[in-house]
Amino acid sequence: MAIWIPDTITWKNGRLKLIDQTQLPNKLVYVWCDTVEDVWDAIKQLKVRGAPAIGVAAGYGILVALKKFKPKTSKELIKKVDKAAAYLASSRPTAVNLSWAVERMRAVAHGMKEQSPKEIMAALKAEAIAIHDEDRELCANLGKHGAKLIRSGSTVLTHCNAGALATGGMGTALAGIFVAHDKGKKVKVIADETRPLLQGARLTAWELQQAGIDVTLICDNMAAQVMREGKVDLVITGADRIAANGDAANKIGTYGVALLAKAHGIPFYIAAPSSTFDLSLKSGDEIPIEQRDPEEVTNGFGKRTAPKKTKVYSPAFDVTPARLIAALITEKGLIRPPYRRNIAAVLGGGDKSKKGKTSGRGKASRRKA
Ligand code: MRU
Repeated sequence: MAIWIPDTITWKNGRLKLIDQTQLPNKLVYVWCDTVEDVWDAIKQLKVRGAPAIGVAAGYGILVALKKFKPKTSKELIKKVDKAAAYLASSRPTAVNLSWAVERMRAVAHGMKEQSPKEIMAALKAEAIAIHDEDRELCANLGKHGAKLIRSGSTVLTHCNAGALATGGMGTALAGIFVAHDKGKKVKVIADETRPLLQGARLTAWELQQAGIDVTLICDNMAAQVMREGKVDLVITGADRIAANGDAANKIGTYGVALLAKAHGIPFYIAAPSSTFDLSLKSGDEIPIEQRDPEEVTNGFGKRTAPKKTKVYSPAFDVTPARLIAALITEKGLIRPPYRRNIAAVLGGGDKSKKGKTSGRGKASRRKA
């Protein structure tokens, strides 16, 4: 069997093409991003979303920013890279993959100060493609480890969308499910709808259906009852940023699911590649949480569901404390508690120290490059 993977992000003839995820499941349509503002908007409006996917898109976004630029000196080019990196990183603050990817691009440019603009451009292109290729590989390896947790006949509950649409490869939380299914295991999925933007209903249900995997949709507020009825064997979600102590930020509602899983004795796992870990943060308290437009809650999908001027509080992510997480599924294998020690042992010493320079805290305001 082959695993079905959508072409979420494509770099083609020097242009960036994305599946417009705001149109799913009704239409599978693509957007071309020809300016860095297009890339910023696509990330902000969730045309491309999911932590690894926005990192990959931002890497290409730097190339898009340089497209018509004809620098005379390397200094001029590097300045432009820095500006585009800061701009792209300002689009969404929580997923660390975004700042991690643009930092990688900056590091390439800054490391080539003595070389010609043409050489730097070539290296930047190679780096953006490498970020994408590596993500594909991270997901595939992560999927192998995730699949080991899934016994044939089990039902996995997931929240939001951490599938192929959210990455440059086959996904994170869903990767283990895809691999288990591919190996012939019988696996069922319960997908939380994921208020307010319905990534679970629109994207996870669509993606799993395309892959031929048995998926049942529930509203977020049904999870407790479904667990109480004994219908869930394990929970796997993705993450947007994981601190050094194992606290993990993911789509709003994940923390509640983790608490429910604990109350029902169901193991709760987080699947994420090393690019989602931010070892510069001691705990989840330091993770910046994106606030979204109130209209997404009161007027979602063009239908007004609350009176105009209703006060709204809309954090896009929450932080699940490490104590609720049975294990972190990474491309290097499972990391179990105690997390501070084991995360450092498995992932420490990598390039995470570079992170955060452009990540900002909650700076999601729109700026021109
Ligand atoms: O707001 P979104 O749709 O970008 O949120 C996505 C999530 O919370 C995912 O679970 C997370 O980014 C992991 S994606 C592999």
